[in-house]
Amino acid sequence: MSARAIKIAPSILSADFADFGAECRAIEDQGADWVHVDVMDGHFVPNITFGPATCAAIRPHIKGTMDVHLMIAPVDPYIAAFAEAGADILTAHVEAGPHLHRTLQAIRAAGVRPGVALNPATPASAVAHVLDLVDVICVMTVNPGFGGQAFIDGQLDKVRELRAMVGDRDIHIECDGGVDTTSAPRCVAAGADVLIAGSAAFKGGSVTEPDAYGRNIRALRDAAVG
Ligand code: DX5
Ligand code: ZN
Repeated sequence: MSARAIKIAPSILSADFADFGAECRAIEDQGADWVHVDVMDGHFVPNITFGPATCAAIRPHIKGTMDVHLMIAPVDPYIAAFAEAGADILTAHVEAGPHLHRTLQAIRAAGVRPGVALNPATPASAVAHVLDLVDVICVMTVNPGFGGQAFIDGQLDKVRELRAMVGDRDIHIECDGGVDTTSAPRCVAAGADVLIAGSAAFKGGSVTEPDAYGRNIRALRDAAVG
């Protein structure tokens, strides 16, 4: 476990929505490994953010991995649009529809790395039969829809269970929601290797004060690796 490199993936849900390009450049300059992009439809989750056109506009401002978390239902009609927008990873929710297997195949066929996300009430076993189709498993450690919520401790058991299920497959396990310097080491101890952080990554900073982003990312990484 200790040999696994930890990635910090700031969520631009906590960035300045009027300045995504500069925010993405700043957060990467300050040490972000991946940029996490939260797409919400006001139907699957009770909040709306943005869609493929905004992802396409953001893309040229991200040098590394653009990790797009789709909190939308249905997913399938929009896979091509998000692939064309330049997503590197497209994560669909288990709960978004009855045909998860088909959705994950369609994401791979579109040339994008597939991910699967589980809401807090969804058991680890929900992904047992799609493990060979995914590169990423996203464990929601809050109920999706909003940043700034409290970390749900009970999800750590699910992370442990998933890490055991994954075995020697090359699959990233993300914790998404309420990740801060207290919860980060617990996520990693349970088997996560990608820490998604909105509030904890962006707090106290801005594109004109980007050093705070760097301090936040270093604090998360230091806490995570102990
Ligand atoms: C929740 C999103 C998360 C979340 C992270 O629906 O998927 O990415 O906003 O934000 P914090 O770290 O503030 O919980
Ligand atoms: Zn997310």
